Amino acid sequence: MKIWILGAGGQLGRALIDRCEVLGIPFLASKREEVDITNLDLLKWKGEDSGCTHLINCAAYTDVDGAEKESRKAFSTNATGAENVAVAARENGMCLVHVSTDYVFDGEKNDPYHEEDKPNPLGVYGKSKWEGEQRIFDQFSSACIVRTSWIFGHEGKSFISSIFSKLCKEDRIQAAHDQVNRATYNCDLAGAIIDLSCHSGLFHFANEGILSRYEIAKDFYNEAMRRGIPLKCSEISPVSMDSFPSISPRPAYSVLDTKKVTLTLGRKPRMWKTILKEYFDHVASPN
Ligand SMILES: NC(=O)c1ccc[n+]([C@@H]2O[C@H](COP(=O)([O-])OP(=O)(O)OC[C@H]3O[C@@H](n4cnc5c(N)ncnc54)[C@H](OP(=O)(O)O)[C@@H]3O)[C@@H](O)[C@H]2O)c1
Repeated sequence: MKIWILGAGGQLGRALIDRCEVLGIPFLASKREEVDITNLDLLKWKGEDSGCTHLINCAAYTDVDGAEKESRKAFSTNATGAENVAVAARENGMCLVHVSTDYVFDGEKNDPYHEEDKPNPLGVYGKSKWEGEQRIFDQFSSACIVRTSWIFGHEGKSFISSIFSKLCKEDRIQAAHDQVNRATYNCDLAGAIIDLSCHSGLFHFANEGILSRYEIAKDFYNEAMRRGIPLKCSEISPVSMDSFPSISPRPAYSVLDTKKVTLTLGRKPRMWKTILKEYFDHVASPN
């Protein structure tokens, strides 16, 4: 097995590199500067030469608000780019895992979304990712697509890293009590993706624990306090998500059901409280 990681400079790409190193799996990591997935010829040519048996596509246009203004760019990366990746994997005889998002759903459901639930994306980002999923399966029916939500990790920008930074810098913060989801630790997702890389079909993966953004902020605050980490913030107020007007509509509830991945891998995704502690062990120990 040798894995080709595309989008290797992003949050998930970096976690996959770490995971491959820990597991001793040979890999080729390509950042955007090395391989742009909108370039089909380059993808095919690099793939031919790579000696890789598996391809994991983490490359994506991920700026949810930016996509509303740059829809062409979002679609060329998330739909055409994804299709190119599928063609390159198929033509080079590689297994393919592509990563997608809970934002393919509209959030109107009141219980977790299963793999069979019908997508109805609200914004351009979700629409471009949904089109990418369909084009992947059109080109490569035995591909594996893993949808996930609220990725965070030790490095990189995420909703969770921005909460932590606000808690450190601001006296008071507000967080939405009515925007609910499951957070996903990038290293757990990387492990699941590697284990799924010989499977086909659609899977949902996110860590255990359905939380609002407000609950996440409070958990961060409490864990920091417990560890004696000084924070500037002394008050977190629950507010409606409408208090944070955004360019792109976002689903209020796009919780992913993970029974299928649990059955397939024979293990449940780890609990939010466990990964929160691990996150603090890595990035937030007092100096
Ligand atoms: N982050 C989340 O909360 C979240 C939630 C659900 C699903 N996802 C999905 O999970 C996957 C990984 O996300 P992530 O959090 O790791 O995102 P990320 O940190 O933004 O990484 C995406 C990477 O893709 C690269 N990229 C962009 N356009 C490219 C192109 N045309 N060719 C090659 N590389 C390109 C980016 O490079 P530059 O930085 O140079 O642009 C970046 O390194 C994506 O498919 C995303 O849609 C993410």
